[in-house]
Amino acid sequence: MLNMRDVDISGKRVLIRVDVNVPLDANLNITDDTRIRAVLPSINYALDEGAKVIIASHMGRPKGQVVPELSMAPVAKRFKRLLKKEVELAPDSIGPEVKAMVEKMQDGDVIMLENLRFHQAEIDNDDAFAKELASLCDVYINNAFAVAHRENASVVAITRHAPVCAAGFLLQSELNYFAKAMNDPARPLVAIIGGAKVSSKLGALHHMLQHVDKFVVGGAMASTFLKSVDYNVGKSKVEDDLLWEARSLMKRATMQGTAFYIPVDAVVADRFSPDAESKIVPIREIPPEWMIMDIGPATALLYSEVLASAKTIIWNGPMGVFEMDAFSRGTMSMVNYVANSYALSIVGGGDTDVAIHKAGETHRITYISTGGGAFLALMEGKTLPAVAALERHQAKI
Ligand code: 3PG
Repeated sequence: MLNMRDVDISGKRVLIRVDVNVPLDANLNITDDTRIRAVLPSINYALDEGAKVIIASHMGRPKGQVVPELSMAPVAKRFKRLLKKEVELAPDSIGPEVKAMVEKMQDGDVIMLENLRFHQAEIDNDDAFAKELASLCDVYINNAFAVAHRENASVVAITRHAPVCAAGFLLQSELNYFAKAMNDPARPLVAIIGGAKVSSKLGALHHMLQHVDKFVVGGAMASTFLKSVDYNVGKSKVEDDLLWEARSLMKRATMQGTAFYIPVDAVVADRFSPDAESKIVPIREIPPEWMIMDIGPATALLYSEVLASAKTIIWNGPMGVFEMDAFSRGTMSMVNYVANSYALSIVGGGDTDVAIHKAGETHRITYISTGGGAFLALMEGKTLPAVAALERHQAKI
C-alpha cells in the first residue's frame, strides 16, 4: 500500500478522507477532539508540500438526509484553530458549487467538505458519487482508519476513480501497530476483552484465540462465561443462547494451552444505578437478586499479575460499568496496570479509550486506536474494505 510520502502532492489538489466523527454536546460543542488531532500530521504534511487540501469526513448517521446538527461546521472551526489557518466549509461534498470552490483554491489552501453521509450514495458505496468526489482531486489520501471497515463510497469506490491513491499517516500507523502486536509479538501476548456482550466480541475471541497466550475477560460479558461454567450470576445480563459457545471457547483455550481468566470476585449491586447498594462478593456468592457491575479486587489483583509478565497487550472493552463512579475501580485499575506495564500496549474501542482518558493515562499507553468497529474488525482477523481498495488500486498501477 502506497503511503502519502510516496506520491507527489506538491501543488496538487489532495482530497484527504479522515474520520472526524467526534462527539458533540447539545450545543454542538466538540467534547473530544482526539480524532481531529490524530489526522493533523497528514494534513500539515500535505500543506508543507504545497498541496491544496480538501478534507472529507462523515459525522454520525444522518441516513442520507441533511441533518443540520450533523454539519461538519464545528469540525471545520476546530481545524481552523488547530491548523492556524482559514478552513472554508463547503456547502456540500459534491456538486457545482463545491467544484467551483476547489477550482479557486491556491496552494496551501484548505477546504472542508460537508458531511459525506448527507448523501445515501456514500453509504451505498455508489460509483457515480465516488466519481464526483474523485473529480475534485488529483490525489486521494485515505487517512480514515475508524471507518475503514465500512464499504462506503469515499473509502472504497473512490479508489476506482482517483488517479493516485495512498494511505495517510494515521491509517498506516494504526495498521502497523496492530500488525506488530499480532503477527510477530513479543510474548506473552495478553488480550483483555471486556464490554457488554459476548455476541459482539465472538469473532474477535475466536480469531484472537489463534494468536494470544492469555485471555483476560471482564465487563458484563464475563457473566455469560461465568454462567456457562455453572456459576450463579444473579440478575446479571447473560446471553443464554451463547452459553454453549462460551463454554466451548474456554475449553478450546484450555486444550491448546491458552490461559483464559474469568473473574474470581465481583462488585455487585441491587439495581443498575449509580446509587445502588453495592458490595464485593466472591464469584460463588452472588446473591440471586443482585447483578455484577465490576470486577472485584481479587480479580484485579489476579489480572495485574497476568499483565505484569505480558510483553504485548491488546485491550478492547471495559471491566465494568465505569461510567458510574461506584463501579469504575476495576476498569481504572486495569488502566493503571496497562500503563505501568513495560509491554507494547495497544488499546482500541470507544469505551476503553474513554476510560484511559478519564484516568489521564493516554501518554503511558503505547498506542490508542482511533477506531471502534474498525479495531474490532482487525481483532476478528478481517481485511478492512478500505485497505483492500487501496491495495487493489496499487496492484493496477
Ligand atoms: C466510528 O465512530 O466508529 C466511525 O466513525 C464509524 O462510524 P459508523 O459506525 O457510523 O460507520
